[in-house]
Amino acid sequence: MSLTVDKGLGNTIAADTKLSYIDGSKGVLEYVGYDIDSLARNSTFEETTWLLWNGTLPTQNELAGFTKELQSQFDVDPRMLDVVRAIPRTAAPMDALRTLVSALAHFDREADDPSPAANRRKSLRLVAKTASLVALFDRHRKGKALVAPDSTLSLAGNFLWMLTGAKPTEAMTRALDVCLVLHADHGLNASTFAARVTIATQSDLYSAATTAVGTLKGPLHGGANQEVMEMLLDIGDLSKVDQYITSKLARKERIMGFGHRVYKAYDPRATYLKTFAKQVAADTGNLPLYEMTRRIEEIVLAQPNIIEKGIFPNVDFYSATTYYSLGLDLDLFTCMFAASRMAGWTGHCIEQLAANKLIRPHADYTGPHGLTYLPMAQRTGCAGAACSCATALSGVA
Ligand code: CMC
Repeated sequence: MSLTVDKGLGNTIAADTKLSYIDGSKGVLEYVGYDIDSLARNSTFEETTWLLWNGTLPTQNELAGFTKELQSQFDVDPRMLDVVRAIPRTAAPMDALRTLVSALAHFDREADDPSPAANRRKSLRLVAKTASLVALFDRHRKGKALVAPDSTLSLAGNFLWMLTGAKPTEAMTRALDVCLVLHADHGLNASTFAARVTIATQSDLYSAATTAVGTLKGPLHGGANQEVMEMLLDIGDLSKVDQYITSKLARKERIMGFGHRVYKAYDPRATYLKTFAKQVAADTGNLPLYEMTRRIEEIVLAQPNIIEKGIFPNVDFYSATTYYSLGLDLDLFTCMFAASRMAGWTGHCIEQLAANKLIRPHADYTGPHGLTYLPMAQRTGCAGAACSCATALSGVA
């Protein structure tokens, strides 16, 4: 068997998928053949989820039925509210969400039913409830009364309702919905890969979703949107952008919200979001923040070699100001990414199971060989760094 070394797996195809297609050099993203830009402009999260799961756009009746099914699942088992309340108020929302997504399994009698029909029903529950859980936890941590879902609203609208206890405007709902559409799927990104690895062991959908939430949390993946906003608030004012960004670049620090493992052209999710974010910022009195993002983009793209390296703004760069304009706390940004990507994670898991193969790559062992096992009594005289056992251990680390 000949093995190829590909750290980071950037040159490896590890699965087939019909959900989304990315051409990183041209800056193309399609969900089931539909360009992301046209979906962001015309579709809704409900319709996009249907598309990802069924491979076609729904008819009016299909969409109405699917929307109703989702709405009927916004609510969580009353015992889940106890789980929400048991989480310390100081917990980071992504950590709370990881626990809550996992806990959903305990109140789902079908949790371990691997049949395609049960997996489909569980996917629907996971997508419908994830945003609700984020809102419930946020209210809990702020000591506010929990808000019951409104099953007449869209998923985006219901989230804003459960978060604030006020009916959102159409513009607010639309702004969040656009972000949900843009984040719903993205090839074999790290969290989707993690979900597929988990489900490929024939584990259950809740375990796969929990794995995915934990993977998304990292700042190199879903956590970047929060860091973009922290950077903007840290800069504070348009007049300080140039100095802040140029000195960051001089220190060889990364600018959050730029760069992508796959896109070496403009991230197509950022194209529409860039104009859309401006409108949302203008409507909510946050235009100065948006102007800062535009200036950051100008400075970064003017750096020598940056375009050759394929560093452009990614989806997180412009979603950050959109979420902020909607009044979301910074540490909820990545949770919204999770609420949307749940559609992709579950769709990929079902796809993986339809032609399953255990995902099990190799590691290149770089440690020592042939050491002699020392009984405990003989190890007490260890002489620290000079000792042969310390040398052996440093090789393992
Ligand atoms: N700012 C400045 N330089 C960068 C950046 C950045 N954000 N990202 C990459 N580079 C440079 C990097 O320093 C390296 O330069 P050199 O070749 O001179 O050493 C070169 O570009 C290649 O970097 P890399 O780390 O090998 O590229 P990667 O494909 O492994 O990393 C990435 C992709 C997303 C981890 C990286 O671009 C990054 O850390 N970006 C900031 C975090 C971020 O915005 N993440 C969100 C990604 S979009 C949401 C999602 O889909 O998950």
